[in-house]
Amino acid sequence: MSHHTAETRRLSILDFPARKAAKEKISMVTCYDFTSAQVLNGTDVDTLLVGDSLAMVMHGFDSTVHATVDLMALHVAAVARGAPNKFIVGDMPFLAARKGLKDAMDGVQQLMQAGAHAVKIEGEKGQVELMAHIVDSGVPVMGHLGLTPQSVHGLGGHKVQGKAEAEARELLEASRRLEDAGCFALVLECVPTDLAREITRAIDIPTIGIGAGPHTDGQVLVLQDMLGMNPGFKPKFLKHYAQGHEMVTSAVNRFDAEVRHGCFPSAKESYR
Ligand code: KIV
Repeated sequence: MSHHTAETRRLSILDFPARKAAKEKISMVTCYDFTSAQVLNGTDVDTLLVGDSLAMVMHGFDSTVHATVDLMALHVAAVARGAPNKFIVGDMPFLAARKGLKDAMDGVQQLMQAGAHAVKIEGEKGQVELMAHIVDSGVPVMGHLGLTPQSVHGLGGHKVQGKAEAEARELLEASRRLEDAGCFALVLECVPTDLAREITRAIDIPTIGIGAGPHTDGQVLVLQDMLGMNPGFKPKFLKHYAQGHEMVTSAVNRFDAEVRHGCFPSAKESYR
């Protein structure tokens, strides 16, 4: 039986390698707020990511550099209240894992106590030991390689990573080191399809791709992007599963027209 019909229980960390071993794909979408969490709680999606992309999508910043642990924890708590049936991953934001053990562990503690079941940490260089320490502390860690948006300024923009052979080898080695550090899954963002497939074959933990082609063990998209809330944002890797912008615009315009014409509220929506 497919996991989609029967499985209402929340995934645990043990399900991730099991899914890979069973060749069952893993789905993840971002979620930042209580209302969306309530909706997603009733869907088949496997896991929710409170991504630091919320700095851009919810707060209008031009990069994820502006997210803080306090901001992330506020959103994690709202999502945890709305989606009790979902495995929730909270992003460690910009520099949160780079300022020494105490600060990093305080950040992890804040996200976990806000309701996350795991944290995601971008990058690998200079933080493998820290990631192993977090894992050894009983906190599941999801890695994130390829395009790591917190490093947008260091990378010179939001670009596909690992196109050059040397860069691709380095990404493969970094993936192995993250697996050795104890990560339970690995996001691969914006890497060539063949490289994502090679990494996926080389490690036993599941890879979850965004802009990484079809051969990863799972896929993740930003909820608002897949719902088409911003029709102008259509990078190659994105598919719009709804016309969200159009739907909201037309509903609000209908409301506006009915208010102007005096047909809302009618007797039906009024108290006697
Ligand atoms: O912050 C985020 O939304 C992410 C996903 C795009 C993987 O890290």
